[in-house]
Amino acid sequence: MLAGRRPEGGIRPGQCRLSHRLRRGPGRAGPVSERPLLIFGAGGLAREAAFLAQRLGRRVTAFVDRAPGTLGGHPVVTLDGAVARWPGAEVSIAVGDSALRRHLAAAAAAAGLAATSLIDPATPIADDTVIGAGAIILPGVSLTVNIRLGAHVLINPGVTIAHDVVMGDFVSLAPGVHVAGNAAIHDDAFLGIGAVVSNGRPDRPIVIGRGARVGAGAVVTNDVSAGFTVIGVPARPMRGRDVA
Ligand SMILES: CC(C)(COP(=O)(O)OP(=O)(O)OC[C@H]1O[C@@H](n2cnc3c(N)ncnc32)[C@H](O)[C@@H]1OP(=O)(O)O)[C@@H](O)C(=O)NCCC(=O)NCCS
Repeated sequence: MLAGRRPEGGIRPGQCRLSHRLRRGPGRAGPVSERPLLIFGAGGLAREAAFLAQRLGRRVTAFVDRAPGTLGGHPVVTLDGAVARWPGAEVSIAVGDSALRRHLAAAAAAAGLAATSLIDPATPIADDTVIGAGAIILPGVSLTVNIRLGAHVLINPGVTIAHDVVMGDFVSLAPGVHVAGNAAIHDDAFLGIGAVVSNGRPDRPIVIGRGARVGAGAVVTNDVSAGFTVIGVPARPMRGRDVA
């Protein structure tokens, strides 16, 4: 249920525990990497990641999927095949499901591949914003100040994230999600298309717990416990869908 208690009381804006702190704004830091770039997945998000790579001036070396073939003129290879041909390549895990993305990121890391972020070059990134390795930030995303995003977050088009927001690893925001100021969204949480997270307070951010799911169009006005699914306006738990 939606509860007054903090699901995981841990992270707060300004007290972020990100596993990788690779990118700090503003601007597009550093030269374009010349390393081979592998995109995990062969679906719509993988094609969007390839589009991002193109916007960043990068060439996609191959897609990685269980079923070899071709996609958009690029080879699709298995993980073993990719590691054999391009050891140490950079990878973007372009898979929407947070749990599968986590699994594939671990497999890629174990194989010696390096997570790289694909962040649309028009994304505003403030000095105090930190984005973890492996992030995918698609075009049309608006970020303001003091935002900390974990490793392998997926931020879809039209998302807005206001001040003092912290997100854990593998968080997924569907298109058009709006997160107001002072929020903490824990690892593996999923926010469906058009969901809104109302503002918390500086001393008490609104919290969405680890692995929670927020349904499309929901308006979150209270904390969401870890593993819970909420829907509606205001967001309420879906019966029978709680895993906590
Ligand atoms: C909330 C959600 C995660 C639940 O998924 P689920 O557990 O598979 O639930 P179901 O889709 O089977 O729906 C169960 C019931 O809830 C209703 N429901 C589902 N999502 C709803 C939502 N967002 N708002 C209101 N009702 C919703 C369904 O109509 C269904 O009602 P019924 O039992 O009366 O037929 C999912 O429906 C959702 O909103 N996903 C977001 C999709 C999205 O954003 N896609 C873009 C990805 S980039």
